[in-house]
Amino acid sequence: MTAHVHFGHIFHLAGRPTVTEAIDALVSIPDGALVVGDDGKILFAGERAQLPDRHASATVHDHRGGYLLPGFVDTHIHFPQTYAGDSYGGGQLLEWLTLCIFPSESKFADPEFATRAAVEFTRRRIAAGSTAAMVFGSAFPHAQDALFGQTLKAGLRIVSGRGIQTRGPESARPLITSEQDAIRLTRAEIDKWHAADTGDVDTALLHVAIVPRFSLSVTTETLRNLGELYHEVRDRGVYVHSHLNENNRPGTGEVDTTKQDYQVDSYLDTYDGKFLPGSAVGGKSLLGRRTILAHCVHCTDAELARMAETGTSISHCPVSQLFLGSGTMPWKRTVASGVNIAAGTDFGGGDEWLIPRVLGDAFKQHITEPGDDGVSMHPAEMLFLGTLGGARALDMEDRFGNFDLGKEADFVVVRPADALAGPLRNAVRADEADLARDQTLFTLLMGIRESSIAEVYVRGNRVTA
Ligand code: GUN
Ligand code: ZN
Repeated sequence: MTAHVHFGHIFHLAGRPTVTEAIDALVSIPDGALVVGDDGKILFAGERAQLPDRHASATVHDHRGGYLLPGFVDTHIHFPQTYAGDSYGGGQLLEWLTLCIFPSESKFADPEFATRAAVEFTRRRIAAGSTAAMVFGSAFPHAQDALFGQTLKAGLRIVSGRGIQTRGPESARPLITSEQDAIRLTRAEIDKWHAADTGDVDTALLHVAIVPRFSLSVTTETLRNLGELYHEVRDRGVYVHSHLNENNRPGTGEVDTTKQDYQVDSYLDTYDGKFLPGSAVGGKSLLGRRTILAHCVHCTDAELARMAETGTSISHCPVSQLFLGSGTMPWKRTVASGVNIAAGTDFGGGDEWLIPRVLGDAFKQHITEPGDDGVSMHPAEMLFLGTLGGARALDMEDRFGNFDLGKEADFVVVRPADALAGPLRNAVRADEADLARDQTLFTLLMGIRESSIAEVYVRGNRVTA
């Protein structure tokens, strides 16, 4: 294999910025070249005119007129909801789970159905350009086998784990296991699939997470056992994934129900080993650099500070928060806490597979926040949420997320389809170069649809359905 060079307009965030530093890290190279070595790593990202002679023999892929962006990272998406997007008749979170989602996820008990869904799920991910993802898994091990198998076949990255439930309403019965099986099946999935492709967690595309659905789906015994299991396997690079502070309907919503149920001071405490009444310590913490908690719409400052302190990341899912009426994550306050924030579709709580649609709804939600809380997000911040912030949330920032030299080349080629091509070509642009650059990136991120995602690469390899 020889090196490959891709021509196009490059956008990425160089270095290791936080979200507030993203503006200064934004790189735009209108006539750019991206060189990928035969090991799938980036050898050069810069001006086409400055392409070093040593790359003269590289195979050329000419995408000029198009754009090269880092692959999108979806830090929260539900595999067993592949066919459950736009479910009607559920209302807000807890009713929607009971009426729409638990019955949908129960259909994955059928191995043939689950395999078809794994094929479809993988196809949708490729179409959306989501090269890496934290995937909330099915309760059924055969479904997870199909998911990991299809992901491996396609060459995408994944972190996933079976959704763990040890209690719940009647409609969740097929998804619920005994306490013993909850641990046994989770341990078996780690042993079977964690770094199964290369045998080395630092080079693998496949990783496993421990995934308690949310505190209301498990018991104090499950949380204690999962804490023990995580303590045992966290040095192997295993992840943790769950939901936090999504629905705060007074009295009957998720947040109040959880706090009443566990008699804890804060929802986060239940994942932090402090799940006994009065937030007394009952086991080991599930928080850390490889933990992602979805939503975090209604966090207290203390919860945000604890997540920042432990390196836990937030998966911000505004499309879902609109669909399920969950409210708006306070942007300024959440950013100010220092916690890492990334983007998640939460499909099928969200009804979009595309991370750019999540970034677009983030923009619309946060500009609508009341008074001084309202912000007009900078397109570099949006790009951060969808790319580098996601790589950081997955604790794989050293491997992908931007086009720094030596990183694994995960990228999408955006060839603007009609509705996007027009504005990109004809819209008014500022005389000032940086603002004109920002305007173009904003149009791009707001306007990308599946029809504009022409090619998808992971570690330099083209990924096709
Ligand atoms: N909380 C617990 N389970 C779920 C789920 O499937 N989707 C969302 N959005 N929130 C949850
Ligand atoms: Zn979710």
